[in-house]
Amino acid sequence: MLADTFGRVATDLRVSLTDRCNLRCSYCMPPEGLDWLPKPELLTDEEVLRLVGIGVRDLGITEVRYTGGEPLLRRGLPGIVRATAALTPRPQVSLTTNGIGLDRLAAPLADAGLDRVNVSLDTLDAATFKRLAHRDRLGDVLAGLAAARDAGLEPVKVNAVLMRGINDHEAVPLLRYCLEHGYRLRFIEQMPLDAQHGWKRADMITADEILDRLSAAFTLRPDEAHARGSAPAEAFLVDGGPAAVGVIGSVTRPFCGACDRVRLTADGQIRNCLFATEESGLRDALRGGATDAELAGRWRAAVRAKRPGHGIDDPSFLQPSRPMSAIGG
Ligand code: GTP
Ligand code: 5AD
Ligand code: SF4
Repeated sequence: MLADTFGRVATDLRVSLTDRCNLRCSYCMPPEGLDWLPKPELLTDEEVLRLVGIGVRDLGITEVRYTGGEPLLRRGLPGIVRATAALTPRPQVSLTTNGIGLDRLAAPLADAGLDRVNVSLDTLDAATFKRLAHRDRLGDVLAGLAAARDAGLEPVKVNAVLMRGINDHEAVPLLRYCLEHGYRLRFIEQMPLDAQHGWKRADMITADEILDRLSAAFTLRPDEAHARGSAPAEAFLVDGGPAAVGVIGSVTRPFCGACDRVRLTADGQIRNCLFATEESGLRDALRGGATDAELAGRWRAAVRAKRPGHGIDDPSFLQPSRPMSAIGG
């Protein structure tokens, strides 16, 4: 079991498979990209699977989510998914992606055992997409979403980050689009995790603002049947349901007290929080011949050291040195 000193137990493992990405979303990285991790520092497919196996067999991990950067850029992804789904006890296997390439990969990934997918979509306007992500790929993302639904990777969840003056007028159209296509939309408050360190609280569209904007066009009611629990999203029924929309208020409505997550970076570090300032390296121990029991022991110690919350509101808050693309959402 991966327990911390505040009574929380981590059961949800998020594994970043690469820090590279084919988009440049401004809330994540600069237009010119970043210095990517050198290949020898990345865990190999076998190393990823060894650690995931220890997590599932020995440490109580029940859900494995592959993230990035952009996880579809990792060539071995279908094999990694297949091997993960073959573990006993079988974990839930999910993916968080920007959707580019999913039109081709959704069916093979579903066949390999992928259960669910979350796709980022911040705008329905091609020019805004290009402004926000610095690439002209809106069509690819929409095609990827449709392919995910057709492959049965349901519920297909859509993540949207609203930014003031850029796409914050699109809350209602985004929800209409997702309702029409059967995707489950969640709006996310922007967090201070961009590589440029450009986050400003005043620019953040808060959960309250998101709900106000949606309430102009829809009747929203808290979805009592799907209480938040350890999930980051608060769910609201739209116009009486059954369709729902989620709001992930990481900053103004933090869920740290119920957090059940732990992260493994592409270079083999355990991060006990998105906002952790320290990491615990498993890669060098693994390459140095550590046994499964030794690796599990290091992993337990890393989670035990988890702090009670992200601390964004503390005057002494420091943004983590790793940006979102190298942590894996
Ligand atoms: P589901 O299990 O499908 O609900 O996935 P999810 O919402 O946890 O995952 P996803 O990768 O789609 O992330 C959606 C948003 O939630 C992203 O902006 C994440 O950074 C944020 N998020 C995920 N995990 C955490 C966490 O541990 N802490 C905080 N503060 N935010 C998180
Ligand atoms: N704040 C909030 N969400 C972010 N994401 C990426 N960077 C940030 C940020 N700074 C989102 C992406 C993706 C998910 C993994 O995290 O849009 O959907
Ligand atoms: Fe890529 Fe995701 Fe970062 Fe956008 S938010 S640049 S899709 S890693």
